[in-house]
Amino acid sequence: MRFLQATVVSRHCAALKGLAYPRNYATIAEPAAPAVKTQAIPGPRSLELKGKLSAIQNVVPVQLFADYEKSIGNYLVDVDGNVLLDVYTQISSIPLGYNHPRLLNVFQNEKNLKTLINRPALGVFPGKEWPEQLNSILTKIAPKGLSNLTTMMCGSCSNENAYKNIFIWYRRNQRGENVDFTDAEMQSCMINQPPGAPKLSILSFNGAFHGRTLGALSTTHSKYIHKIDVPSFDWPIASFPQYQYPLAENERHNKEQDQRCLAEVEELIEKYNKKGIPVAGIIVEPIQSEGGDNEASPEFFQGLQKIGKQRGVALLIDEVQTGGGCTGKIWCHEHFNLDGPPDVVTFSKKMQLGGYFHKEEFKPQQGYRVFNTWMGDPSKLLLLQEVINVIQEENLLKNVNIAGKVLKDGLLDLEKEYSHILNSTRGRGTFLAVNCQNGKARDDIVNRLRMKGIQTGGCGEISIRFRPALTFQEKHANIVLDVFRSVLREL
Ligand SMILES: Cc1ncc(COP(=O)(O)O)c(C=O)c1O
Repeated sequence: MRFLQATVVSRHCAALKGLAYPRNYATIAEPAAPAVKTQAIPGPRSLELKGKLSAIQNVVPVQLFADYEKSIGNYLVDVDGNVLLDVYTQISSIPLGYNHPRLLNVFQNEKNLKTLINRPALGVFPGKEWPEQLNSILTKIAPKGLSNLTTMMCGSCSNENAYKNIFIWYRRNQRGENVDFTDAEMQSCMINQPPGAPKLSILSFNGAFHGRTLGALSTTHSKYIHKIDVPSFDWPIASFPQYQYPLAENERHNKEQDQRCLAEVEELIEKYNKKGIPVAGIIVEPIQSEGGDNEASPEFFQGLQKIGKQRGVALLIDEVQTGGGCTGKIWCHEHFNLDGPPDVVTFSKKMQLGGYFHKEEFKPQQGYRVFNTWMGDPSKLLLLQEVINVIQEENLLKNVNIAGKVLKDGLLDLEKEYSHILNSTRGRGTFLAVNCQNGKARDDIVNRLRMKGIQTGGCGEISIRFRPALTFQEKHANIVLDVFRSVLREL
């Protein structure tokens, strides 16, 4: 940490003297390798804290207690002194690793500190910098053609509020521009009845994850434990392509999957229209993440967009997990060569705050229709701006592609060598996954990797996912692969 602080100070000095910073400024004094000190993780200190917390909350998912003062770069340090190379990064939400000096610097500045402590109700009292700040985000990273931006708190509430924009857009199209609400609509919506509270739906896919809040949950289908006991809307759920690997050897099967699933989308739109619950929007992840890193081809997404356009159904691409550079592009859907932008793109995680980009026509005409007290957090936007600066200055997307190729090629080699244990390596950039024989074997490998200092995560029933920071480099990939190999040797 001493080095880190010294670096922050020297950057200040460089700024004062008008000197240019070295391009590889983000090279942080990380540990050279992971180091596990305890017999098990969670270690004794983590267990003690877990006991304390369990008196207040359910702690079943807690894996360890971290020391965020000591964690640095790609390494997560826990309270027992274990140093883990983190390729899971807080469920894919740390863009530049821990304690990145450029992010630490953001709040050294008194103006930014005031942004942090004077948190506004953005919908009614935005600060004077807000329009310019949003404009700069729009110009730097918005998907081409999406001119509007709504900020939110998290991934779930971004999706959930985006559904509202879609429903409002859909009803405006039905009603006609500038047509007032009827008395019947205004009265019936107050008691949750049509026509004011219309029967409309969002089509989603089996295996999808779009969040756990009440509306978003109706479009989440990855695990029953997220949904059980909670009422859901009767909304259509289509099959998502189930590919076989390697892709090049399974083209016919995979193409059939695309065609079958697209046909199902059309049938469901038809069916729900007839049922009196018309489909206003389709929500889809560019890679189904929580559901098991299920990919689909650019042709599948092109087909989906075409269906949406033909049927007057909005296309929402959920980039909460895939967005922010980890697939080698800022937005994963940029890989799909779509015919124009999707209608809405939601984000959160690596972007530091939630929100969505959308086309102008999805902006409600009246106030307070998509609204909450905070509607995001300007202090998180300051962090996002600095994250974007670092991505651009240090060419981190190129880094992701290079490090990702090393990791992917290495996983493919391991898969060949240990084909009875691993299969179906897949993904883009460093957003990668590999399958195990079954869930028990997967959990065992994830635990063994952790005990050797590599923090990965599971997804779906049988997959291990890799979600490193954008600063993850070739040398880190080689450490992961060496440790992985030693785990496979043990099995
Ligand atoms: C694709 C996707 N959408 C939405 C969400 C929900 O985001 P949050 O957990 O911030 O509510 C997640 C979270 O993992 C996600 O992966």
